[in-house]
Amino acid sequence: MPSIRKNRPWRLPESAATPEAVHLGRRRFLKAAGLGALGTLIGGAGCGDPGGGPTRAGAGLSPFPRAWTGRYPAPRNEAYTLDRPLTGEAVAGRYNNFYEFTTVKERVAELASRFPFHPWTVDVSGRVRRPAVFDIDRLVVSMPLEERLYRHRCVEAWAMAVPWTGFPFKALLDLVEPLGSARYVRLVSFHRPELAPGQARQPWYPWPYYEALTLAEASHELTLLATGVYGHPLPMQHGAPIRLVVPWKYGFKSIKSIVRIELTERKPATFWNDVAPLEYGFEADVDPSVPHPRWSQARERLIGTDLVVPTLPYNGYAELLAGLTS
Ligand code: MTE
Repeated sequence: MPSIRKNRPWRLPESAATPEAVHLGRRRFLKAAGLGALGTLIGGAGCGDPGGGPTRAGAGLSPFPRAWTGRYPAPRNEAYTLDRPLTGEAVAGRYNNFYEFTTVKERVAELASRFPFHPWTVDVSGRVRRPAVFDIDRLVVSMPLEERLYRHRCVEAWAMAVPWTGFPFKALLDLVEPLGSARYVRLVSFHRPELAPGQARQPWYPWPYYEALTLAEASHELTLLATGVYGHPLPMQHGAPIRLVVPWKYGFKSIKSIVRIELTERKPATFWNDVAPLEYGFEADVDPSVPHPRWSQARERLIGTDLVVPTLPYNGYAELLAGLTS
């Protein structure tokens, strides 16, 4: 997909700003986190399931550690509103892109359902002052979780509206303290071909899945690390136990099941750009005026409905991207 030039002179309307309570809550958290929080958040011996045995958050979902479910549903951040109905959970959870399992969207949930996503760690390294390995249990109980209703636009011209639960990526970046030389953030998913049939059967793809953002994009208020959806922890088909959500970019940027994050000076390669450079760019901002080489991006099909609606520039988030520099 050709790269898209950003329109710089955006302004952030007051109505779109994060409510003070949410903003203050996060700042207090980060201040309180200080040095001590790293010790609490970093995994290691004894960082297993702090809450005891597994529990079920809903019919058909994998068991989740009890400590996680205590954090759901998280308070909704009302600053993020939708112009369309929320996609039903059963619809969103049965129409997934997760090539590690299969390219058949309707089969992902079933094939992913037995994938073990606990215990899980996320290794954050590279151009940071405080590299760390974060245990997912500690992240879920310690980070400032909130729910946000976001539009979700796939490059394949379908769309959903999804209630993600997560925390701003910036909250994690603040803990590791990016160095002045850090300009990009690279994210990597798992490589387990023995458990993920799509990885075993499609060896021509450059596994594991990898994606990247500029540090400015990763630090933007809209950019979430999601650990939950529909008021409970993420089921595997949505990228358990932790995934990226960048709502103004095509869905392939929102990498699922992250195991590694690396801050770099140089622009990292990305999975789909490596696989098909003429079709998928690094930036991948939603832009209805730039067609995919094989189809139009002007409109989108709302999954679970009969509706086809015009696609919005930056998926409707242009105003909120005020001041973003890449
Ligand atoms: N992440 C990984 N690891 N593997 C994938 O195949 N697919 C991407 C993205 N993240 C993908 C991924 C694409 S193309 C889309 S549209 C979204 O995940 C779909 O997210 P959803 O299934 O939760 O709706």
